[in-house]
Amino acid sequence: MSKQVLTGIKPTGHIHLGNYVGAIKPALRLAEIESYNVAYFVADYHGLTKIHNQAEMKELSYGVAATWLALGLDPDRAVFYRQSDVPEIFELSWILACFAPKGLMNRAHAYKSMVDDNQKGGREIDNGVNMGMFTYPILMAADILLFRTELVPVGKDQIQHVEIARDIAETFNKIYRETFVLPEYVIQEETSVLPGFDGRKMSKSYNNTIPLFEEPKKLQKLINKIKTDSSLPEEPKDPETSVIFSLYQEFATVDQVEKMKVRFKEGIGWGEAKKELFQVMNSFIEKPRSKYEELMANPHVLDTILNAGAKKARETTIPFLREIKKKMGIYH
Ligand code: ADP
Ligand code: TRP
Repeated sequence: MSKQVLTGIKPTGHIHLGNYVGAIKPALRLAEIESYNVAYFVADYHGLTKIHNQAEMKELSYGVAATWLALGLDPDRAVFYRQSDVPEIFELSWILACFAPKGLMNRAHAYKSMVDDNQKGGREIDNGVNMGMFTYPILMAADILLFRTELVPVGKDQIQHVEIARDIAETFNKIYRETFVLPEYVIQEETSVLPGFDGRKMSKSYNNTIPLFEEPKKLQKLINKIKTDSSLPEEPKDPETSVIFSLYQEFATVDQVEKMKVRFKEGIGWGEAKKELFQVMNSFIEKPRSKYEELMANPHVLDTILNAGAKKARETTIPFLREIKKKMGIYH
């Protein structure tokens, strides 16, 4: 049976290895399943909650689009678009806002953590919060529900947002009868959280990221920055607790991983382990990196692909939105 899969990435920074492992890689795997229909998009209006600079918004949006394509997303098979090119999403977002309790938004964790930070810092609770940030989960619900999405591959931090979309859909369905499909999140359990070079979660917010398409010299430098302990080369090392090993696993073959595990247990110098890590990463990244660079140098190619994707998306979003409006007594 065919299933609808959908996910978005917001252009708020350069895509790093954590984004790849936690979000893009699992989504690309789902795209390979013949019976799944996939819709993947650049969540630029979500990005606008943070990015308020023209050049930056443009560059980062193209960057997200080029990343998906460079890593092998086939735009003929997937519906691949820019969120802002599908205006029905924003119309639906307003509609859903009228069914979303404000208390639900107060409890959304991104907003809550900003409030907590403000309280800790002795500032007014809503300091620095714009209404786009506050209603962020409603726009995300519109993204999901408008495509009758069943599966949403996301990182753990996004679970609550998918649950909010479900809640709003249930409320609407109760009043107007079955309209929206109730979405489910798909979490990649085995690739939980990729650490950055300081050992904490790799994240733009911690400034500890390794950009996915970093050039070889810089990549080598960033890998050399990974913190290690002071054990001697011949001392046995625990692969389970090593940042180098966690990163290595993501890019090496099963066979290579097994061999590296043995070398860790027998004792391997950190310098040597880092060199091996660089090699597997770099050889994995080489091809997509040159595809990425080629696309970034030709944004009109990206525009053509994204425009065609939006056109395809609107073949379903226009009639579905009309149906939704009719139910509420709004469409004549
Ligand atoms: P960041 O933490 O750098 O701001 P985002 O919040 O934009 O990243 O995350 C985009 C996607 O990438 C989400 O689905 C998120 O779960 C995933 N992701 C981000 N960082 C990591 C990480 N270190 N390990 C695994 N997945 C991650
Ligand atoms: N909020 C998601 C993130 O920060 C991005 C996103 C926007 C999204 N709309 C979506 C993810 C719809 C899945 C489905 O990573």
